[in-house]
Amino acid sequence: MGLFQHLGWKLYAVSYCAGRFRYLRHAIFPKRFGACLIWLAPRNKLQYAFLRGGCVEHALPYRSELIKPLRFPEVNSFTSKLGVGVLGVGEMGRRHAENIRRLVPQARLIAVADVASARARQVAAELEIEHAFGGLDEMLERKDIDCIVIASPDKFHAQAIRSAAAAGKDILCEKPLALDLADGRSALEAVARAAVRLQVGFMRRYDPGYATAKKRIEAGEIGEPVIFKSLGRDKDAPPISAYQSRLNGMLLYNNTIHDFDLARWLMGDEIAEVQAYATVAIRPEVAKYGDVVASVVNLKYQRGAIGNIESYVQAVYGYDIRTEIVGSKGAILVGSIQQTLATFLTTEGGVQPLADHFLTRFADAYVTEIRDFVQTMLDGRLPRVSGEDGLRALQIAVAAEKSHLQSKPCSVAQADALTV
Ligand SMILES: NC(=O)c1ccc[n+]([C@@H]2O[C@H](COP(=O)([O-])OP(=O)(O)OC[C@H]3O[C@@H](n4cnc5c(N)ncnc54)[C@H](O)[C@@H]3O)[C@@H](O)[C@H]2O)c1
Repeated sequence: MGLFQHLGWKLYAVSYCAGRFRYLRHAIFPKRFGACLIWLAPRNKLQYAFLRGGCVEHALPYRSELIKPLRFPEVNSFTSKLGVGVLGVGEMGRRHAENIRRLVPQARLIAVADVASARARQVAAELEIEHAFGGLDEMLERKDIDCIVIASPDKFHAQAIRSAAAAGKDILCEKPLALDLADGRSALEAVARAAVRLQVGFMRRYDPGYATAKKRIEAGEIGEPVIFKSLGRDKDAPPISAYQSRLNGMLLYNNTIHDFDLARWLMGDEIAEVQAYATVAIRPEVAKYGDVVASVVNLKYQRGAIGNIESYVQAVYGYDIRTEIVGSKGAILVGSIQQTLATFLTTEGGVQPLADHFLTRFADAYVTEIRDFVQTMLDGRLPRVSGEDGLRALQIAVAAEKSHLQSKPCSVAQADALTV
């Protein structure tokens, strides 16, 4: 072990003096008795681990999440681009693929996959990439793919995470993490077991308005946060076929989940209890698919703050996302129904163009999100939005659904213990 320790510290000195190795990803130095893996963790703290026969034998200081199984064919040079594959190239996945292909020079879009293989081929052709697959398994076989972006329907997220993790790929998975807690936990266990990294697609954290709000709250500008209010209204309700297929979670899992994440992240506190009201008012037929058209969820935080979230599938006038955080010394309002700051005035009156879709309202956030994910992977850092964040938001959704079904408040900690 002394020999390895010597080797480790000697390399540390070299890399530190050179002053240009922020991170030695997969810097594996084979030796007679095994190998040494070195990397620089956040705050430039050197960490290293000794591996023998693919197992971690000793690590100082140990961060198991960052240690990948020792597989020599996967060794990348720290100067190479991150190879990415996108699973599911519908509305969201296609945007991710396009952003990676055109706007993230540090990444290389290697392949896309979709059960609709003709669609995968069409997207590959449009984005001028070589590889299109009809499923995840084929894509996972490619050694030049370091990470997978999962944008298949909600129902398939957890299984795709498990498969990608088992193949040693890092992952960016769209929200929600899963549609039930057992599936979500099993996905996180697979990620931990494979020692890969998982980011969950809560891209609102990358929106300039929300990101600024978070910084100002953390700087204490509104004092102690007391009230959280948020609303998310889609412009047009989904077609009834979308409910029939049951591929995506109900409103609370597919839509409100973004606000559940913001509710934790912006307030810097966990939600202890929820009370939900929901309705099928304008579209009673969705009830037979276990869904609703609108909901309000009251929140009680662990440290005493309170909150409320409204979700609605059919605002008709536009895509309306707004959040308010009220504190002991002031308040922050994020979001506006206006898409641009311009107002057009004519003899007929004034017109303000409104946001109408998530792909336009959050266009910048999706780019910033994928750039940050790619850089995080290349730097060997842990993702800014973790799998645990995905699980916590899911837990709030489960509690909110139970509260709605049982017509009573529901503790978030006991969300999965309650039967309906
Ligand atoms: N973060 C956000 O703002 C945001 C916005 C929209 C959608 N989403 C999420 O992204 C995901 C995709 O949503 P969308 O709007 O693009 O849906 P979509 O229906 O437009 O696209 C889904 C695609 O996945 C494919 N697919 C279906 N089953 C698959 C499987 N098992 N494996 C691989 N591909 C499969 C479909 O053929 C389709 O091309 C959903 O989980 C949704 O919740 C996130």
